[in-house]
Amino acid sequence: MCGIVGYTGFQNATEILMSGLKKLEYRGYDSAGIALLTDNINTIKSQGRVENLKNILDKKQNNDSKIGIAHTRWATHGNPSDYNSHPHSSHDCKICLVHNGIVENYLDLKNKELSDLSEDCIKSQTDTEILVHLIRKFYDVNREISEESFLDSIIMSLNKVKGSYALAIICDDFKDKIFVARKDNPLVIGSGNKENFLASDSTAILNYTREIYFLEENKIAIISPNEINTYDFNKKNVNKKIFHIDWNIEDVDKTGYDSFMLKEIFEQPKVIDNFLNINLNSDFLKNIGLEKKYLKKINHIYIIGCGTAYHAGLMILNLFRNIEGLSASCEFASEFRYENPVIDKNKLVIIISQSGETADSLAALRLAKKSKAKVLAVVNSVGSSISREADYVIYTNAGPEIAVASTKAFTAQVLALYVLYLNIKKILAKENDGKCKEFELIEKDLKNLSRNIRSALKQNNKIKKVAKKYSNSKNMFYIGRNLDYIIALEGSLKLKEIAYLFSQAYAAGELKHGPIALIDENILTIGIVTQDKIRGKTLSNLKECKARNGIIFLIIPEKFLDDEILEMADDIILIKDMHEILLPILANVVLQLFAYHVANILERDIDKPKNLAKSVTVE
Ligand code: M6R
Repeated sequence: MCGIVGYTGFQNATEILMSGLKKLEYRGYDSAGIALLTDNINTIKSQGRVENLKNILDKKQNNDSKIGIAHTRWATHGNPSDYNSHPHSSHDCKICLVHNGIVENYLDLKNKELSDLSEDCIKSQTDTEILVHLIRKFYDVNREISEESFLDSIIMSLNKVKGSYALAIICDDFKDKIFVARKDNPLVIGSGNKENFLASDSTAILNYTREIYFLEENKIAIISPNEINTYDFNKKNVNKKIFHIDWNIEDVDKTGYDSFMLKEIFEQPKVIDNFLNINLNSDFLKNIGLEKKYLKKINHIYIIGCGTAYHAGLMILNLFRNIEGLSASCEFASEFRYENPVIDKNKLVIIISQSGETADSLAALRLAKKSKAKVLAVVNSVGSSISREADYVIYTNAGPEIAVASTKAFTAQVLALYVLYLNIKKILAKENDGKCKEFELIEKDLKNLSRNIRSALKQNNKIKKVAKKYSNSKNMFYIGRNLDYIIALEGSLKLKEIAYLFSQAYAAGELKHGPIALIDENILTIGIVTQDKIRGKTLSNLKECKARNGIIFLIIPEKFLDDEILEMADDIILIKDMHEILLPILANVVLQLFAYHVANILERDIDKPKNLAKSVTVE
């Protein structure tokens, strides 16, 4: 949460920083600010969107500084306001910094380390501001104007900090240098020709460079136009590995769509084809590094994620439980640590994350590794913390997902997990001299998945009409059983986060144990019915709602349509027939579009829903 960006080189820094901030706005948009270094440091900040900051900058005299840092904020300490916006400066404006993370002991530091500082020097209510005063204090104590002395001041300060940070710091003693540090929050450094960049995530700087270095945990770097030097906290030089990122520039643009969310929903067929092209082959497990010998030793699989990634995990849970000799459980990353999980070397822990930076998921990964389990990450962002710390990685290759509401990443995660399951199943079946019939059946139909998603997308206008009809609903239920229940959870989450409408997902059979008391002519129930074996049961539950004058919107495969359904449902969207485990993916696409249109009709800010951030790097 919060986005930071920095530049040092020969171009106009303002333009590069503002372009980076725009791309990072998904991380937070309560306020934004920029600090440019020429002879002095000039700081401009503004409450609200990056656009507000741009309007202020447009009215100012052109500043042709070639070095600067900038920030877009998701408030943690102190309300969104000009004062609380970053960058924060030392009392004499000599040092200035931007921060993503939380300084947990900031009050302690303020009272113990900065008691000499007069109250009016501290301008904000933020935890971050304490840091800049601390660095300033130690720089004074060190009494030497040198890069090394400044680095020492940063290290001395950070050694006192409890919490997390990705930091970019400038000081007017070093006219072309940016000092950066990271602990538990992402920071990437982009390498250019006579210019270098930094950002919270590579999408902010892909317009300028594809050569990206992911700063490691507890490391510091000094970035100048011609050099990037990285150190540990003992000032020992550390090596860096540069990744080449080959995402397309169009991937980080709306390319004519109203929002990134809509664009990303429509990208799903391409994402599927791309994933299958790379991964649907006999070397899948070998490419990840998962060996048969190891797989045979596993007795339990923990599947872990947050939000939509957790839902992707639920989709695979029962399938893994089908594998003989294996048990599986799916956990919220934020709860995992507190459940006293039994973890040892015979457990495989699968961490699912689009960003690869979610703090709760990262903490679960670290706990698993500490307890000697192997970790397999299913991640979208190449080079992210989770992908680097895991033992094995499956990249979902969905391209950058910018909208806060996750859509294409979910589809890619489910696909990746299905392909993983099928390969494990196959290898164990072979081991028993058998063929994996299931593999053959599903593999065949996987090839139809993108085509069938396209058919679902073609119903966009019809779904929009349904959304229009129900956009005034105050409460909704999403119901389904088994895999359909998981899609109900996911559909309801989408509606909450972008339309701000209350809805609840229920296992269809549970309605009659209480919630059915709420059903009347004002309540919409969205039924997801794709699984043959339980279709009759869910339809009965929907009929029970209808009998109480409830409104029914149904998503079913073509093969289920009959007169009884036509009579019961107020609205129906049909999806193409295919293998049962793939049908929920199609139903989910319909629900993504439904949530999108409801939010659009209600004039919500779809890509930047209130109170949310794309990448949740605080616990
Ligand atoms: O980057 P991650 O996949 O780890 O993010 C996990 C959740 O924060 C994320 O899926 C969130 O629930 C989405 N905004 C849902 O649309």
